[in-house]
Amino acid sequence: MNRKEFIQQVGAGVAVLLVPACFGGLSGCSNSGSYPAAPTNVDFTLDVSSGALASNGGYLVSNGIVIARTTSGTFLAVSAACTHEGTTVEYISAKSYFYCPRHGATFSSGGQVTGGPATKALVTYNTALTGTSLRVFS
Ligand code: FES
Repeated sequence: MNRKEFIQQVGAGVAVLLVPACFGGLSGCSNSGSYPAAPTNVDFTLDVSSGALASNGGYLVSNGIVIARTTSGTFLAVSAACTHEGTTVEYISAKSYFYCPRHGATFSSGGQVTGGPATKALVTYNTALTGTSLRVFS
């Protein structure tokens, strides 16, 4: 079982306890607040007839954006770089939130911070599905 599978099965609460968090000046966390800027002027399409987005719960990273398909089939798109120190966030479909595997920050499906050490929200993008073509745009 890999880390992603473990987190999906055990849940965020336990995962946060097991991941070395960036609290109270613990080692491994500089809390620099430096991370890549979220993509701007976004407008691209993805074919969702195959690959990670063909099934509910899948996600992928494209053009600096995490595009996720919820367990109910809705598409989400947020900036991929964690607002703590820039690690690419993952989508945890079972709980519908975004998770940073580096220090454990969590973000709601709408990109809002739900757990530190990140303090700024992920940028959200619009999505529109036409047939099997998903448009992601600012
Ligand atoms: S890089 Fe530190 S929580 Fe994401």
